[in-house]
Amino acid sequence: MEINDLDYLTVALPKGKLFSPSAELLAKAGLSAEGLEESSRKLVIVNDRAKVKFIISKTADVPTYVEYGAADIGVIGKDVLMESGQDVYELLDLGFGRCHLMMAVPEAERRPHLEDYAHTRVATKFPRIAERFFGEHGMQMEYIKLNGSIELGPIVGLSESIVDIVETGTTLRENHLVEIVSIMDATARLISNRVSFRMKFERIHRLVEDLQEILRGDNK
Ligand code: PRP
Repeated sequence: MEINDLDYLTVALPKGKLFSPSAELLAKAGLSAEGLEESSRKLVIVNDRAKVKFIISKTADVPTYVEYGAADIGVIGKDVLMESGQDVYELLDLGFGRCHLMMAVPEAERRPHLEDYAHTRVATKFPRIAERFFGEHGMQMEYIKLNGSIELGPIVGLSESIVDIVETGTTLRENHLVEIVSIMDATARLISNRVSFRMKFERIHRLVEDLQEILRGDNK
């Protein structure tokens, strides 16, 4: 495919909270392009001098572009990566985008034990991770897949609980929900297509080393 020719590195970046820190970090490692902005209507942005192409995609689609090789590498949250189940290499923990996935319920309807929620409905963007978690606790649940504003589920009686991401906790507080159990921590990860990693090993390996050095410097 032309877009993925060997001289160029194609990078998938997610729209949303991870976009700016990803673009800033990659720019420090020499991967940038004029007009690379989240709001850009142009979906592929090329820098011929640096031999890099950026794809700006919906967050949940980044692992798909990378698995199928439409992008060589990408940046994605560990939560979305795990939920996707996509077959890619995870190369580096980038440290930003720190959040955690948890189960929350309306404050007024809190039950004493996790198991008290068995056989109830959970609204979530992460049904696979949720199912695995509840399965490990021997709980069968009914999963209702939502695509955003998950906190609305219990408020309008769609579900008894949610499994969702918490960053600052503001959304939970403002909607009178309380966390009852943490499921996993997540940060942004650099991922690679398996074939690209072999075919473009030197370039990707060098990028990983450069990023590691930049991240070490940032953390000093
Ligand atoms: C995420 C998540 C929570 C919120 C948590 O939603 O689903 O709703 O952020 O952040 P907080 O703890 O800092 O309040 P996002 O803003 O990505 O949009 P979405 O609801 O459309 O998924």
